[in-house]
Amino acid sequence: MITRETIDKVFETARVEEVIGDFVQLKRAGSNYKGLSPFSDERSPSFMVSPVKQIWKDFSSGKGGSVVTFLMEHEHFTYPEAIRFLANKYNIEIVETEVSQEDKAEANEKESLYLVSEFAKSYFTDTLLNTEEGKAIGLSYFKERGFTNDTIAKFGLGYSPETWDAFTKEALSKGYQLEFLEKVGLTIVREDGKHFDRFKGRVMFPIQSLSGRNLGFGGRILTNDKKAAKYLNSPESDIYHKSKVLYGIFHAKQAIAKQNNCYLVEGYTDVIQLHQAGVENVVASSGTALTPDQIRLINRLTKNITVLFDGDAAGLRASVRGIDLILEEGMNVKVCTFPDGEDPDSFAKNNSYEDLVNHLENNSKDFIQFKASLLMDEAKNDPIKKADLIRDMVVSISKIPDSIKRQIYIQETSRIMDISEQILLNTLAQLVQKDISEAGKKLKQEYKALEVVKSEPQSPQEKVNIVYELERKIIEMLLLYGSQEADFDDFILKANEEGEMIEEKETSKVRVHQRIYLSLQEDEVELANPLFKEIYNDLIAYYNQNDEFNIEQYLMQLSAEHSEMVTDILMMEERELLHNWEAKQIYVKTKDQNVSQYVSETIVSLREYLINKLIMDLMNSYSSNAEENDLEELKATINDYNKLKVNLTNKIGRIRSTYL
Ligand code: CTP
Ligand code: MN
Repeated sequence: MITRETIDKVFETARVEEVIGDFVQLKRAGSNYKGLSPFSDERSPSFMVSPVKQIWKDFSSGKGGSVVTFLMEHEHFTYPEAIRFLANKYNIEIVETEVSQEDKAEANEKESLYLVSEFAKSYFTDTLLNTEEGKAIGLSYFKERGFTNDTIAKFGLGYSPETWDAFTKEALSKGYQLEFLEKVGLTIVREDGKHFDRFKGRVMFPIQSLSGRNLGFGGRILTNDKKAAKYLNSPESDIYHKSKVLYGIFHAKQAIAKQNNCYLVEGYTDVIQLHQAGVENVVASSGTALTPDQIRLINRLTKNITVLFDGDAAGLRASVRGIDLILEEGMNVKVCTFPDGEDPDSFAKNNSYEDLVNHLENNSKDFIQFKASLLMDEAKNDPIKKADLIRDMVVSISKIPDSIKRQIYIQETSRIMDISEQILLNTLAQLVQKDISEAGKKLKQEYKALEVVKSEPQSPQEKVNIVYELERKIIEMLLLYGSQEADFDDFILKANEEGEMIEEKETSKVRVHQRIYLSLQEDEVELANPLFKEIYNDLIAYYNQNDEFNIEQYLMQLSAEHSEMVTDILMMEERELLHNWEAKQIYVKTKDQNVSQYVSETIVSLREYLINKLIMDLMNSYSSNAEENDLEELKATINDYNKLKVNLTNKIGRIRSTYL
């Protein structure tokens, strides 16, 4: 594990504007930077970076946080990966806590495998580009397929010479150990101790992880030898697990997240050709059915998959089966086919970008509809086949976790296949007995909740927003001024010389977070919004442990959801700047001028609102409650609250006049 000290040092050293500047073009805007959101397609910038606060905020997607959060969102790094990336950028030595000898050996071995793999990749590209054989055979093959130099470089394509052990010899002479060469499968060691290259005479496709490390290779043969496999792939190893890898994911991840869709193809060349044509959100399953691990990899980036099928119908039916797995993961699946004899590779190569995009858009069909119409063609006049088909369809539908979506598909299928919804539902019910009853219960509960909302007599819309705004302000004050001290006025009831009760103003110096906490505590007020409540409790705990508020330190330990909200609040002013409200005189910055007034007003307003709500609630129960004695009691209570309200209203008046 990376030590706390190293992590702290990384946070101290890393500059959010420098790191983000490597990925997003940033322009100065006052004391901030702004740029186009890297998380959505937009024309006017809504992405802000604050060098002072060391945070960023993307107003178009709501994302925001620290420099580390950015790398996790944008590069899809894990937390330790992000720390390592930054340590590397800023030349900070990574100190790790003691790990067991065993763990260390294992980590070292894996690291060695990565190194061997990385070396092989550079060896193969070098051979492709800089040797006579590589250029004459490998490079000319890629050129024939229509790949440009840029594309070849981007995907790190290479060539393994047509010699028994050229690569292995070179690797050994460079000090790489045979043990590791064998473990990653680049070298095959025979019983008699002789060793030779697995990929001899093939063009090479390096396979990279999500974060860009080289895991393995696919190698394509160039002859028409029917006995040899067209593609040879790295065998399973400690660094290469076929079922967890998607070809092209490293180069596609940004585009997948941005387009909110992932095209899934079969082969290496499909990925590369589509990429070159300008469609970058594409990965390949490398010729096999998608595994749950691969689906989850995509699921981290988007909920939508479009599967691109070659033109032959036989392959179609087989592939269609694998798709139930994607449905099971709760993803939305579309299917797009190509004309007979064409695959994504050839189509992308032979058509313009516009035609390609149009084809993808116009021919992508919802999977369930696609499957129904595909199978319907075959089963048209055959009742037995049709019955099979119906079961088949309902099996697919039963895989969808969302009950509402299931319902919609049942209706759709009923229409396409001309069969009653009831029959489909009965079949579905048999398949998902348990599922259904649970979903049904949930639906009932949701409906009940809906009814409660419907019968609420006052218009709730506005009121909800008031509490939301006030609670948000409370969080904002805690974030911006929590550790500051300010003068707060209290009005204490005292007896004067004549024995009359009078109110006297008493001023005391208190920290803002204490003032807020005590005031809310006094009324036993809990924040209504669950997210605010969590952040509030968290912040109060934070201030109890720390004298100063350190944004970076605080953000470091926040969840993504909290981080979004907190950066949203912290970047309020920046957002207003973004819309140029200041220039339009809509927004006048006064907050800093008097923190204690701002705090007091907010708290009193929240209390006032809550009392109002109590009174309203009581009045409502008044009308529906006809018992005589109850009525009296109710009236008395409402009276009490009304007095309290008058009191509070006075208080607000006083707060305002005190500070005017
Ligand atoms: N594949 C494999 N082993 C094989 C054949 C195919 O691993 N013997 C995988 C490869 O990942 C390949 C994918 O399945 O990219 C799709 O196979 P295919 O359609 O036959 O290959 P293409 O990608 O179309 O290759 P090419 O266009 O170079 O013939
Ligand atoms: Mn092909």
